[in-house]
Amino acid sequence: MPENPDYCLKCIECGREYEIEDIYMCECGGLLEVFIKDANLKFKLDGNLRGVWKYSSLLPVKIDPISLKEGSTPLYRCRRLEDILKDRSSQNLRVEVYVKHEGANPSGSFKDRGMTVGVTKAIELGKRAVACASTGNTSASMAMYAAKAGIKAYVLLPAGKVALGKVAQALMHGARVIGIEGNFDQALSIVREVCRTEGFYLLNSINPFRLEGQKTIAFEIADEIGVPDRVILPVGNAGNISAIYKGFRELERFGLTSSIPMMTGVQAEGANPVYRAVKNNKTDIDPVLNPETVATAIRIGQPVNARKAIRAIYESGGVAEEVSDREILEAQKLLAMREGIGVEPASAASIAGLLKLGEKGIIESGERVVCITTGHLLKDPETVIRECGEPIKVEASVDAVRKVL
Ligand SMILES: Cc1ncc(COP(=O)(O)O)c(C=O)c1O
Ligand SMILES: [Zn+2]
Repeated sequence: MPENPDYCLKCIECGREYEIEDIYMCECGGLLEVFIKDANLKFKLDGNLRGVWKYSSLLPVKIDPISLKEGSTPLYRCRRLEDILKDRSSQNLRVEVYVKHEGANPSGSFKDRGMTVGVTKAIELGKRAVACASTGNTSASMAMYAAKAGIKAYVLLPAGKVALGKVAQALMHGARVIGIEGNFDQALSIVREVCRTEGFYLLNSINPFRLEGQKTIAFEIADEIGVPDRVILPVGNAGNISAIYKGFRELERFGLTSSIPMMTGVQAEGANPVYRAVKNNKTDIDPVLNPETVATAIRIGQPVNARKAIRAIYESGGVAEEVSDREILEAQKLLAMREGIGVEPASAASIAGLLKLGEKGIIESGERVVCITTGHLLKDPETVIRECGEPIKVEASVDAVRKVL
């Protein structure tokens, strides 16, 4: 049996299966996912991380990957966070807290896991160009992998609403970067149409192959510490939470593990459609028409993967939470100053969610929790300077420096 698995695309709504791969949606309008029918597992969960492609026997590609050595991100035990949780809760809350820092990927976000698979699929399908709408990180990552693959990259961004570091990456890696006077949801709807007319390969998380790469976050967690009780992560377009859940489900289905963590999604108050849907026991969202949050990466009002994500939350017994911009920025500082982990605001939403759910008593003593921090601190330097202020400036003398120590 070859290394790559036997798979097809399957609609999450009507169950229809497709052998063709160059599609993004079912004819019924439902989202597609890759269904691994059979696989000959060539890896062991032995604690040795070797990047995304360690798990190639569960990854649906047939050619050598376009890789920049993504994955193998650090998983930190965070004892100071554990103490803070205990201090803030009314009970004597004892939780084991880990942070998996996806900011340590080559472009500085978890998107690289998806892009190594997505861009490889683009090459496999003979595409000459890839495209995406982006709140920033997708564009940075896609531009990088397109450069490595030697194909063109087109990016649509909400003008003025993308953190500087991400725009810089997309530009330097050679993407054609187009700002639109509108939000992410509008950018996505435009780029979908442009991909259809121009034949570009769409690499937003509606692309089921991209999510296959991202499911390796689950594989790496299980590889290092086994299956935790809960995984907490920020939710924007809702692809990552769906992908990680799928990863844990596959490990269980192929007999490597025997439980699924409670998938816990955190959104910003100003961009919270998934939170509201789950709160009201619904299976679909009402869009937020003018999403707004300091966490620009998750400034999304109409997440395309909402139905997958909501299912993941319900099926795993998880929850959704919302956090304010103030809570996000405080969590970002706390993580940076108390644990030495530098993340961008969207990523800090998972820490803000951890603290809030701990205070509410939803997280219980004895739980082992993994928070995913999705992007690196350096992605958004402008927010940092706004929060921390400019460095102190003094004349060039020992005396002047001593005075401000
Ligand atoms: C740093 C960061 N965190 C979280 C997300 C949200 O991920 P998803 O859209 O898969 O929900 C994004 C998406 O752009 C992101 O860039
Ligand atoms: Zn269908």
